[in-house]
Amino acid sequence: MHIVVCTLFPELISPFLATGLLGKAVARGTVNVETINIRDFAPDRHHHVDDVPYGGGPGMVMKPEPLAACIRDAHARCGEGGGHVIYLSPQGPSLTQKRVVELSNLDKPLILLNGRYEGIDERIIERHVHEEISIGDYVLYGGELGSLVIIEAITRLLPDGVGNRDSLAEESHDHGRVEYPQYTRPPEFEGQGVPEVLISGHHAQIAAWRHRMSLLRTMQKRPDLIEKFPLTADEIRVLEGRKK
Ligand SMILES: C[S@@+](CC[C@H](N)C(=O)[O-])C[C@H]1O[C@@H](n2cnc3c(N)ncnc32)[C@H](O)[C@@H]1O
Repeated sequence: MHIVVCTLFPELISPFLATGLLGKAVARGTVNVETINIRDFAPDRHHHVDDVPYGGGPGMVMKPEPLAACIRDAHARCGEGGGHVIYLSPQGPSLTQKRVVELSNLDKPLILLNGRYEGIDERIIERHVHEEISIGDYVLYGGELGSLVIIEAITRLLPDGVGNRDSLAEESHDHGRVEYPQYTRPPEFEGQGVPEVLISGHHAQIAAWRHRMSLLRTMQKRPDLIEKFPLTADEIRVLEGRKK
């Protein structure tokens, strides 16, 4: 997958792309991330990228000319048909695993546009942006952390994105449920043991326990998910411990 990041701070992006499993995926070519500095497209001698807001008020707004030129350059790097432009914005819908899955299957490169200051000139959003995505209902200095979130979440889902694809199955937010509790060695830690079933070696019982725990945890930790995706008849049967 090809992703082009438009930012005033490319130096925030590169170290993250060189680290851990994401770093390995980048080295393998699973994902190809290019970073472009929006400031390189400022037409004036002093490379201004921001200006005071029309109508007054605090802060500065990112000027449209460098943004439009940067986006055009990003499209050119994406080849025929250009890219799908996402503006990271606290005003967009919050990113979900469902949207991450859809984006990972997109047949176009992604262009991630990162704002700073008070945000970007509205005309860029109207004319050049295909989609706005927020990473949560809070405000950051800039969109770069959001871009990194999108890059990492998508890369995990790509073929070769993780060493063992089984680790993607049954994860939190797969089908609107959170994952069951996980344990590892030692079997006794600070006086706490491990649920017997997990060391029983009985695969069917382990699967049933995990399914039930995933449902109980979702009800306990994320009742909003149960409201959004109500329990199915099969899930109620699992919760009640009834056999099929
Ligand atoms: C300080 S914010 C601007 C906020 C803007 N004045 C508003 O109230 O909607 C600067 C930039 O950070 C990014 N940003 C801030 N919070 C974000 C969030 N929750 N999700 C994604 N991007 C965010 C956006 O790119 C935004 O243009």
